[in-house]
Amino acid sequence: MSRISQLIDKVGETSTIRGWMFNRRGSKQIYFMQLRDGSGFIQGVVVKDEVDPEVWETVGRLKAESSVEVIGLIKAEPRAPTGCEILVKGVRPIHEVTGEYPIQKKEHGPDFLLDNRHLWLRSKKQWAILRVRHEVIRACREYLDGLDFIQVDAPIFTPNACEGTTTLFEVPYFELKSYLTQSGQLYNEAAAMAHGRVYCFGPAFRAEKSKTRRHLTEFWMIEPEAAFMDWEENMDVQEGMTRHVLTRVLERRRPELEILERDVTRLEKANAPFPRVSYTEAIERLKLSGRDIAWGDDFGAEDETLLGNQFDTPVFVTRYPTALKAFYLEPDPEDPKVALCNDCLAPEGYGEIIGAGQRMQSEEKLEQAIDAHQLPREAFRWYLDLRTYGTVPHSGFGMGLERVVTWICGIHHLRETIPFPRMIYRNHP
Ligand code: 4AD
Ligand code: MG
Repeated sequence: MSRISQLIDKVGETSTIRGWMFNRRGSKQIYFMQLRDGSGFIQGVVVKDEVDPEVWETVGRLKAESSVEVIGLIKAEPRAPTGCEILVKGVRPIHEVTGEYPIQKKEHGPDFLLDNRHLWLRSKKQWAILRVRHEVIRACREYLDGLDFIQVDAPIFTPNACEGTTTLFEVPYFELKSYLTQSGQLYNEAAAMAHGRVYCFGPAFRAEKSKTRRHLTEFWMIEPEAAFMDWEENMDVQEGMTRHVLTRVLERRRPELEILERDVTRLEKANAPFPRVSYTEAIERLKLSGRDIAWGDDFGAEDETLLGNQFDTPVFVTRYPTALKAFYLEPDPEDPKVALCNDCLAPEGYGEIIGAGQRMQSEEKLEQAIDAHQLPREAFRWYLDLRTYGTVPHSGFGMGLERVVTWICGIHHLRETIPFPRMIYRNHP
């Protein structure tokens, strides 16, 4: 048994593969079976005069997505993406599909494809996207592990909000108030006081009522948090991690990027030092571009697109007005109207991929902030304890996995970057 991805090392040998036949073309004398096994794609060539009549008959009968075992001679084929094809000698059906496979070569609408997501995952482009996703996850872990961060998981059921009360999903939980987590950050802060450098990587939930191509109700976030790390240093970690992701994807996922027809020169250009502009400067830049925006306004998707488009690399926008951001951010001691925080905006119009900042250090100021945001102080008592017992400067960030994968794959909508997307009108399949 061989994996298709490894067949290039078996040119000249007879090999057996197991997988699915996703398509077949043919004439009276020759069939071309399109085969996949999860590791890659290969063409199987069946020549009528060179195989048993029974093999010829079987191949002619097989319908798309039948599972098969195929034995044959591996031949070099420079025009094939894998560099080889298989000259079929034998075919053993594992399961013969009887009906028509719902996903055809023709264009389908997004609703049809999403309804059939459990099958759509098999399509080449979707296959490529999830492999890029895996590489992004691996690169983030590799980078953080290299800096001595350790993974500490955060809970999903939480008693309090982290990112504002408007996007909370309340869930039944016996006698207790309970919400799905919006971010593992607050728990990360506790873990950072125990381990110094930690990250969590898990799903986050936001009851986003808007239907946009950048929002999911369930998405995955990688969130590092470090004690004794100020926020400037934190930006270096964000930049280092993002660039490591680019390096690894460009190194290891070229075939997938090719399937996605991604312009890799744009990704290569993005892998350079990231500029840092203040929120105040960003507002000026937007005004110069003709946007109707004033200091104190939040950026909309269009503003983020416009700003991001001004650079080849991701850009850090720093020091947002305190009023626009979550309760836990440390105000800038030199200008308390703004916070020690940043967003990172991807180039090519992809918008925010990271939210980050230094955490409020003083217990008294944190209590005031919790009150000012009308959050229930009792639910945050444990979080305030982190300031009561040995509070230190600390900072962290959250990178939205699907946002990064969307940008790197160069696709339009976030929903294709997660195996089973959850959106306002969709929780199926
Ligand atoms: O900017 P956000 O809300 O920051 C936090 O949650 C912080 N507590 C993170 C931290 O400092 N530990 O979210 C972080 C990132 C965003 O930059 C975006 O990439 C992604 O999470 N994100 C979403 N992705 C998909 N769908 C949504 N509804 C998202 N909301 C945020
Ligand atoms: Mg944000």
